[in-house]
Parts: sequence; structure tokens; C-alpha cells
Amino acid sequence: MKALILVGGFGTRLRPLTLSVPKPLVDFANKPMILHQIEAFKAIGVTEVVLAINYQPEVMLNFLKEFEKKLEIKITCSQETEPLGTAGPLALARDKLIDDSGEPFFVLNSDVISEYPLKEMIEFHKSHVGEASIMVTKVDEPSKYGVVVMDETTGKVEKFVEKPKIFVGNKINAGIYLLNPSVLDRIELKPTSIEKEVFPKIAAENKLYAMVLPGFWMDIGQPKDYITGLRLYLDSLRKKSSSKLASGSHIIGNVLVDESAVIGDGCLIGPDVAIGPGCEIEQGVRLSHCTVMRGVRIKKHACISRGIIGWHSTVGRWARIENMTILGEDVHIGDEVYSNGGVVLPHKEIKSSILKPEIVM
Ligand code: GDD
Ligand code: MG
Repeated sequence: MKALILVGGFGTRLRPLTLSVPKPLVDFANKPMILHQIEAFKAIGVTEVVLAINYQPEVMLNFLKEFEKKLEIKITCSQETEPLGTAGPLALARDKLIDDSGEPFFVLNSDVISEYPLKEMIEFHKSHVGEASIMVTKVDEPSKYGVVVMDETTGKVEKFVEKPKIFVGNKINAGIYLLNPSVLDRIELKPTSIEKEVFPKIAAENKLYAMVLPGFWMDIGQPKDYITGLRLYLDSLRKKSSSKLASGSHIIGNVLVDESAVIGDGCLIGPDVAIGPGCEIEQGVRLSHCTVMRGVRIKKHACISRGIIGWHSTVGRWARIENMTILGEDVHIGDEVYSNGGVVLPHKEIKSSILKPEIVM
């Protein structure tokens, strides 16, 4: 079986992290987002993953070469010369996606995190007569997603509306599809939106089916959702393989610590924290609801709540970082500095406090 991951887009909503790497390579729970997805495909027997790319393909491919060997899965690239949207890339990769077997193939948005119930999805796809299966999930704020109106018992989709302005329902497109090769005959090789132009038509012909995704789901393409996604991911890890989580008197709730990270005495860490490889957390540090990426140093008695600390940054002594502060790669926060929602671009040194949420260039 084959799978295509839509990795285009500039990831602007996840800046400043995406100023350093393409969105799929931004770490989530201590490894690049896309690795979570490729591993899930590998686990159910997908043999080739096609990356539909329109931005920094070399960076992506160089990085993934290493994992192609480690995971023993073929990773290829289908590169657009102009952004083709969410459907055009499927037409471009047509020859890679279909073979004589006539098997359906997976398509995945690169910024969704879940337990990837792909096996269940294959069973669901076999159980109906449609051309395409999509996963849906319930959310409180459906307007920023694709909304699906479906028959609860059969799963048949009656309507698919991308980013509706008025309320249509609260079941949304989770960005995980299983499509018959015939769907490719509906897509031309030009910029096309699968959500606006393809799914509504398949639904109108009664050939689009939706399955409610079991377990958690989050689109982590925006900082606030990224932090929420980490909480959901760690909750699920607690249930499935709790031995991967840190334990001890200095840990509260769910905390993931890479084995190469060093944590000093008197720290209090958690809940919902991920500490990446090579991090150095000095004495008496307090961390909650945050991600600390590879190579970061947090100096003595600093306090971080709700934030993302980008690769190889440092946070000074007694610094206080809160309210969705995001530090890009290699940012240095001085001693005693306070950040209230600062968004700091890569390679900056911050010596005075950031008192209200703002972008620091
Ligand atoms: N190759 C390629 N080329 N990929 C693209 C392009 C493009 O021109 N444009 C977007 N993508 C990729 C993005 O990288 C992402 O993985 C996926 O397509 C969806 O784009 P987003 O920009 O993340 O869309 P969204 O989050 O606003 O909405 C989509 O995802 C929601 C679920 O997270 C839609 O599919 C919604 O219907 C859905 O509910
Ligand atoms: Mg998205």
C-alpha cells in the first residue's frame, strides 16, 4: 500500500519555528511531526510514502534519508513547481500512487496528530461501496476546518463544507483519507482544493464515506493547538505505554524527557511537558505545559509555563516565560527577563522583558 503526505504550505502559522525548518520537521513530543506519521504508516504495512512538497525539498529529503533506512520504508518526493493546493499534488503524483493492484491509497495532512487508526480505516473502507473514506472528529470550533454532515449509521457523507461561515455541524475533516485510484480521474493537474472542489462532488454522488476517528486528534499547525495537542498526545501515551513517561518526585502528570537530557536538583516539571535530546535543565527550574526542543539550556530557577522553546535556545536565571511565548531557534533570553506571550524570531538575544504578546524581530 502507498501513502501520500501533503507537506506543502509555508507553515506561516507556526512561525518562528518554521523559519528554521519546514513545518513537518518541527519537533512534536521530541521528534519531527512527520516521523510520527511515517512510523504509523510503516506499522500497518505501507511500503512507500510519497511526500508532496513545494517548499525546501532538499532539507526534507536529506533529513528523511536517514529514516528511510532506519524504518525500512521507501520515501519519495513529488515536487511541485507551483503550489498545487491539496488535490493538485495527487494528480502530479498519480504514477507513484497507482499500480496494477488497484489498491486504495492514503492521503494525510502533514500537521495532524492522532493515534492514526489506519487499520480501522482500511476495514471501514472495505465495508462501504464508496470511492473515498475520510476520518472525522468532533470539535468545539468547527469554522476553521472542513465540516462534514453525515448519516450516523452508514457513514455516508451528505455534505462537505470547507471552513463554513455559518454553523453546519461539529464533525470535521481530520485530514486523513483513504481513496480509490478512481478519485484521481476527478483531479486535474492544476492548483485544486480537495476540500472545496473534490470532496463536495464525490459527496453529491453519494460516494464519500466518513468514519468517526477513535481517540484523540489535533491539527498542530498553530501554537495554541500545538500545546493542546501535546497534552492529548501525552494523555494517550499514558494509557498506551506509560513506561515512556518520566516519573519521580520532581514530576507532575505527564512528562516526556529524552534520555540524553539532564535535569538538575530541585526542579518541578509538569504537567504536559516534552524535553528534547541534549537539553540541560539546571537546578530549581519550574516547567509546565511546554515543549523544550533539542539542545536547549534552561538556567537555574527559571520558570516556563505554556510555551515552546526552539532548538538550541537558552533561558536565563530567574527568567519567567509564559502565556504562549514561542522562541525560535537559537534565541537567548537574559537573566530575570519576563516574557508574556513574546514570539521571538531565530538567533535573537533578549535582554529586556516582553510585557505583552508581540513579535520580536
Ligand atoms: N504539496 C502541497 N501543496 N501541500 C499543501 C499545499 C500545496 O500547495 N497547500 C497546503 N498543503 C498541505 C499543508 O502542508 C497541510 O499538510 C495540508 O495540505 C492542509 O493544509 P493546511 O493549510 O494545514 O489546511 P487547514 O489546516 O487550514 O485545513 C485542512 O486541514 C483541516 C484539518 O486539520 C483542511 O483539510 C480541512 O478540511 C481540515 O479540517
Ligand atoms: Mg492545518
